[in-house]
Amino acid sequence: MSDALPRLDMTAFFQLHRDLPREGPGEPADIEWAAGVADTRRDAQMADVGCGPGADIGSLLSVAPEGHVTALDKTPHFVEAARQRFADDGRVTILRADMARIMNQYDMIWCAGAVYFLGVTEALSGWRKSILPGGVVAFSEACWFTDTPPDRAETFFAAENPTMTDEAGVLDKVRAAGYEVLGKRRLQDAAWEAYFTPIEARIATLRERADGALTEVLDDAEEEIAVWRNHREAFGYLLTVARPA
Ligand SMILES: C[S@@+](CC[C@H](N)C(=O)[O-])C[C@H]1O[C@@H](n2cnc3c(N)ncnc32)[C@H](O)[C@@H]1O
Repeated sequence: MSDALPRLDMTAFFQLHRDLPREGPGEPADIEWAAGVADTRRDAQMADVGCGPGADIGSLLSVAPEGHVTALDKTPHFVEAARQRFADDGRVTILRADMARIMNQYDMIWCAGAVYFLGVTEALSGWRKSILPGGVVAFSEACWFTDTPPDRAETFFAAENPTMTDEAGVLDKVRAAGYEVLGKRRLQDAAWEAYFTPIEARIATLRERADGALTEVLDDAEEEIAVWRNHREAFGYLLTVARPA
């Protein structure tokens, strides 16, 4: 995210994004579905890479209550937020770390909305050595649901995510990394609302006294929300569960 938005002032960016519950679309049902596809054990070792403020850690623990979650992110603000949420839970380890260099091995590497920083094929290729026998990678990735994206959506994503492809393109990238696709599904509207509703509330509190840099950040966030509300049939997130073949 911070790499994807270099044109935005990062101080202003964190005025909007500090202490939000999550930093991309997602809901507990995504993790329940992925755990079902993967047949996740109650004592699974899980990694949440690009964990942001830790929105998914609780859901990962719910599907593996006797397991452990190692959550990592490279952005200090988010690492601190995740640590505050799970400070007292011995089943959770939170690290400031680069997801391109995952240590240890896991039954599930969960990655919500962050794979694109590395690229799907590059990320999955690199994570192969970090997956325990029978383990999986489960990740969400933005993609087009149409061959003819609306201009407004295409313009927005040309700046935000220029390598965005369609569903078949995502699955091709998974297979190019030598993985078998076990399951896929689109994120539901509730996942987007879980991300956007707190942002809209924060924008309402910041807008009136925003300086130029913050105004740019707020405008960008409002455009993202408007693009989704107006064109959600044209794009979204594909959640994929894959296992090294
Ligand atoms: C769109 S946010 C999603 C955060 C979280 N998964 C969620 O759904 O709320 C992407 C996250 O990836 C993190 N990130 C980007 N590149 C990273 C890297 N190389 N290593 C670790 N984290 C990274 C960002 O700091 C950010 O928190």
